[in-house]
Amino acid sequence: MPTFPLFPEQASSFASRVDALYFFLVALTVFFTLLIGGLLAVFAIQYRRRSDDERPSHVVEPKVLEVAWIAVPLAIVVVIFFWSAQLYISMNRPPANAMDVYVVGKRWMWKVQHITGQREINELHVPVGVPIRLNLTSEDVIHSFFVPAFRVKKDAIPGRYSVAWFQATRPGAYHLFCAEYCGTKHSGMIGSVTVMEPARFQAWLAGGASGMSLAAGGEKLFNELACVTCHRADSQARGPSLDGLFGKPVKLQNGETVTADEEYIREAIVTPVAKTVAGYQPIMPTYQGLVSEEGLLQLIAYIRTLKGPAGGEAPPAAAEAAKPDVKKARDARTP
Ligand code: CUA
Repeated sequence: MPTFPLFPEQASSFASRVDALYFFLVALTVFFTLLIGGLLAVFAIQYRRRSDDERPSHVVEPKVLEVAWIAVPLAIVVVIFFWSAQLYISMNRPPANAMDVYVVGKRWMWKVQHITGQREINELHVPVGVPIRLNLTSEDVIHSFFVPAFRVKKDAIPGRYSVAWFQATRPGAYHLFCAEYCGTKHSGMIGSVTVMEPARFQAWLAGGASGMSLAAGGEKLFNELACVTCHRADSQARGPSLDGLFGKPVKLQNGETVTADEEYIREAIVTPVAKTVAGYQPIMPTYQGLVSEEGLLQLIAYIRTLKGPAGGEAPPAAAEAAKPDVKKARDARTP
């Protein structure tokens, strides 16, 4: 006999918590629907008008009743608020030891990169029992990464990095959907998440290795795009040094201070003039369209690995008039 499961299976650490809240809300709704609907019917019959000249008797509302219908719903919504807020917060705060996976949505596929450089399309392999942090973005329109069995759904938005996390509790293969209408083949933008035992996952990771980690790919791009000609630690540098930059505050020309996180670095590559670093000229050209979203993720992974003294402290170049060498690199990359 075919079965019609009403709910997807529970395969992540917060699946049962999400379901508990959901069932509580359903039960609450059913209870009050029956209560109010039932009372409505009973009262309509019991207090119906029995003759044309009947007049209602004077009613004095008891204060107790009034207090009750304010206090009881208030107590219920406060419970719902704290319950769901607590769940929301834990779903949005990946643990520090989470394994990073980079996902780029594109019409109409999911492109996945692992930190080791492994790439997948419409598939994601993860170990069981390990928290996974998904770093999502899109290279065209808004998509939404949805794995019902994990109760994970997060929008992948062009120009932004959004984070979601999960910890799979059982090995197996689970459906992956796009849950945001993104064009004609939106319904075909599906895939699967394969949860494996850690040892098998390691074997999978080692097999088919592309030979280059995410950060190494970023370093290669950094040299190919000639970023290195300007972003050097010496006094000839026309741009701020990137050593030890990641996660540090950066002083801008306009006096503001921002944190050098993924979002900031992405913007600095795609729209450099948006936030010029204090003490430097806004001479960096835009790399919009020259670096793919995956390339940006690689560059960020590389910049993240650069250790050293905090960036931005080297004295600015004595305003070298010479245009940076990037034009050549851009031409070289233009087919
Ligand atoms: Cu991508 Cu719908």
